[in-house]
Amino acid sequence: MKAQLESIRTTAVAEIAAAETSLEEIRIKYLGKKGALTAILRGMGSLTPEERPVIGAVANEVRNCIEEALEIRGAELKKQALARSLAEEKLDVTYNAVPSTAGHIHPITRALERMTEIFIDMGFSVAEGPEVETVGNNFDALNAPADHPSRDFQDTFYITENTLLRTQTSPVQIRAMRGMTPPIRIISPGRVYRSDVADASHSPMFHQLEGLVVDKGITMGDLKGILSQFAKTMFGPETKTRFRPHNFPFTEPSAEVDVSCFVCGGKGCRLCKGEGWMEILGSGMVHPEVLKAGGIDPEVYTGFAFGMGVERVAMVMSGIDDLRLLYENDARFLKQF
Ligand code: DAH
Repeated sequence: MKAQLESIRTTAVAEIAAAETSLEEIRIKYLGKKGALTAILRGMGSLTPEERPVIGAVANEVRNCIEEALEIRGAELKKQALARSLAEEKLDVTYNAVPSTAGHIHPITRALERMTEIFIDMGFSVAEGPEVETVGNNFDALNAPADHPSRDFQDTFYITENTLLRTQTSPVQIRAMRGMTPPIRIISPGRVYRSDVADASHSPMFHQLEGLVVDKGITMGDLKGILSQFAKTMFGPETKTRFRPHNFPFTEPSAEVDVSCFVCGGKGCRLCKGEGWMEILGSGMVHPEVLKAGGIDPEVYTGFAFGMGVERVAMVMSGIDDLRLLYENDARFLKQF
């Protein structure tokens, strides 16, 4: 029995020393109710009265020895676990953090927001129209002749015979006139579509900002005043405007408007291609036929309208000369603005 106890001590202690995880199983295996040591102690009844205290002492010693080994190994395992988690969860506060990059407003959005803000400050309100328009609103009501080249499906994305992706924001003029009574003073920023191949100055989708003012006694002087003021606020107080006669079906008379180059002040530079001027919009006095199509009596009311290229303004503001840069969305490029 003594030999049995010694052998239990040896195997138990060796097993404990080698244990890597929970010691509980080992404790139960040796010291539990059905454990190896307990089984031997139960057998003590068959010993002689002389043997009993001797074996009892050995058994106690073996139990103490196993308990001590469990305690020591338990403490070691706990220490190891702590060291491991400290090593794994270490936070190096001196480590150079990767700087986080915050996004910012796209140059086109910024130009649109700024333009809108300037007109709102001058008393305009914002009107919206759908990008899928009727041929009636996009062409007919805007006095476009039946054979106008812009109607061609080479230039326009038709959806059906009578609907298309609007080629300009001008149809919002028709919607505004039909939905409001003068005085009308609205702008309408938005996307427009043309069947163009993308190059430095063309994109199949781009943005315009339309403007319309209708009231009694509106003249070309109001048009020039509003647009000159807009240019000064947008591009700087020194900015000059130049009105060149032009032709649009929906205005009479019509004018294209140039602003003096805000980089060289009109002397001529790379940005304005030596011209000193940059074209930014088309405008004119609303054609009587267009007023009529909008349900407004041209004998009583007059109006002016304009349509600006938002990309052109964004390019002028950012000093870039290729429209595609604005749409490729290369973060390295966009980051500069
Ligand atoms: N819709 C014209 C275009 O896309 C721009 C334009 C010119 C709008 C004259 C107007 C205007 O309202 O009066 O080229």
